[in-house]
Amino acid sequence: MTNNPVLSFLQQRNSSAKLTAPAPSAAQLNEIFKAALRAPDHGGLKPWSFITIEGDARVRLGELFVKAELSHGVQLDEDKIRKICSKPLRAPLIIAVAASVTESAKVPDIEQIISAGCAAQNILLAVEALGYAAIWRTGDVAYDDFVQDGLGLEQHQMLLGFLYIGTRDMPEKPLPERDVNTFVRSW
Ligand SMILES: Cc1cc2nc3c(=O)[nH]c(=O)nc-3n(C[C@H](O)[C@H](O)[C@H](O)COP(=O)(O)O)c2cc1C
Repeated sequence: MTNNPVLSFLQQRNSSAKLTAPAPSAAQLNEIFKAALRAPDHGGLKPWSFITIEGDARVRLGELFVKAELSHGVQLDEDKIRKICSKPLRAPLIIAVAASVTESAKVPDIEQIISAGCAAQNILLAVEALGYAAIWRTGDVAYDDFVQDGLGLEQHQMLLGFLYIGTRDMPEKPLPERDVNTFVRSW
């Protein structure tokens, strides 16, 4: 146990699979994105791109997911279509996070993708710091070119996932006790 409040916050970060309104306000969202923009960034490439999806845009995202499945020839009955359409409605706000990868002799693609992943993590932390909750979700749709096109991403951009954001709508969950030594060794 630590007495340091920031460390304690980090050690207890966790996701909420169930979310409801309200989501962070526009002003809070601006602060959250400022945290995202402090992700470590080799070469100062700023390889980050964020798309906010709220309100009716969530309905359009569900429809995009369905169209993506249909474009691959997947047969969907009405029940399945309803299920897919309801997915983005699980939170009042979604932030799609993409890595904008530029060709660089010094900074390999993987480093730019990791940087965007760090930005996503900073968003999760900032959201939680403001008293809200979130969960990072992907699924096949996140890696689907049809979905990436539909979101307006360009060829050099890679979608890393959807951050579902809102207010926790489930009890706090017990966090697993993890033994640091299982994952750490000195060399
Ligand atoms: C890149 C990435 C993709 C993920 N995709 C999903 C997903 O599609 N569905 C899901 O339930 N959890 C997904 N997760 C895991 C959750 O975000 C979350 O971390 C997990 O439920 C464990 O909860 P915790 O964060 O409270 O430890 C993903 C996590 C990462 C880092």
